[in-house]
Amino acid sequence: MLVRDYTVSGRLQDSMLYSIHAGGKRLRPILLMATAQAFRVPEERVMGVASALEMVHTYSLIHDDLPAMDDDDLRRGKPTNHKRFDEATAILAGDALLTLSSQVITEDAGLSDAERVYLVRELTKASGARGMVEGQMQDMLSEGTEISLEALENIHRNKTGQLLRFSILAGAYLGGASEKVLGEMTEMAEALGLVFQIQDDILDVTGDSEVIGKPAGSDEGNHKSTYPQLLGLDGAIAQKDKYVQQAQQALVNAGVEGTTLSELIHYLSTRDH
Ligand code: IPE
Ligand code: IPE
Ligand code: MG
Ligand code: MG
Ligand code: MG
Repeated sequence: MLVRDYTVSGRLQDSMLYSIHAGGKRLRPILLMATAQAFRVPEERVMGVASALEMVHTYSLIHDDLPAMDDDDLRRGKPTNHKRFDEATAILAGDALLTLSSQVITEDAGLSDAERVYLVRELTKASGARGMVEGQMQDMLSEGTEISLEALENIHRNKTGQLLRFSILAGAYLGGASEKVLGEMTEMAEALGLVFQIQDDILDVTGDSEVIGKPAGSDEGNHKSTYPQLLGLDGAIAQKDKYVQQAQQALVNAGVEGTTLSELIHYLSTRDH
């Protein structure tokens, strides 16, 4: 029998757990669980995947904050990982969280072999060189340059959208959704991803560091391309509202309106942190 043991020694474990326990909103696991609920998947079937998702997300934040990237000192209301530990430890903690995420899914006894392969494949695709990592690359390359709205949307779709899309697709897939419904849920997830990142950009301008738990004004300081920078605050809000409508409509098309997912769309567009 397979014995699952995720114990890690000393400093690496402290660094990994420091960021995991720092108090994130757990939005991706919550979206996965809400989708699972909408498609009548028992909660225990998604807990492993939910943990894996939060590991990938937390790794991405540890690396995003590094001096070579956004160079931020505050995350989830606490000193960033490289400030609390050091850069080498932060890089390694991120590496370890990312790799552990695949291990957790491949060892999940509650899933069939086919489900494990599907989920690891989709999660690694969403996180990798044609997903989140590519989004981060384009985000860095566009610093200090003028880019089109289309290019910005493409960055957002990758750097944030892909992981959110996986959160939702994984739940619908485990619920046995048809190809048509998976398509509607993909549309919902893509619109929701844009809602989420536009609000993140807006909060960087209007938010209070104490409340958002990360430094307000970081994007402006780094000369990032963002929705408010490109469209102004009102334009960004209008664009966000357009995607809120699209996401709600896609839920109706998928036949899962009126579920917790509808409330989450509203929450993600109005959140203050
Ligand atoms: C922040 O994500 C980083 C982005 C992808 C924009 P969250 O706002 O979900 O961060 P936590 O997990 O609550 O800290
Ligand atoms: C980060 O986007 C997205 C990922 C970590 C993949 P941001 O740089 O806007 O996130 P915050 O604002 O630092 O949380
Ligand atoms: Mg960044
Ligand atoms: Mg950042
Ligand atoms: Mg941001």
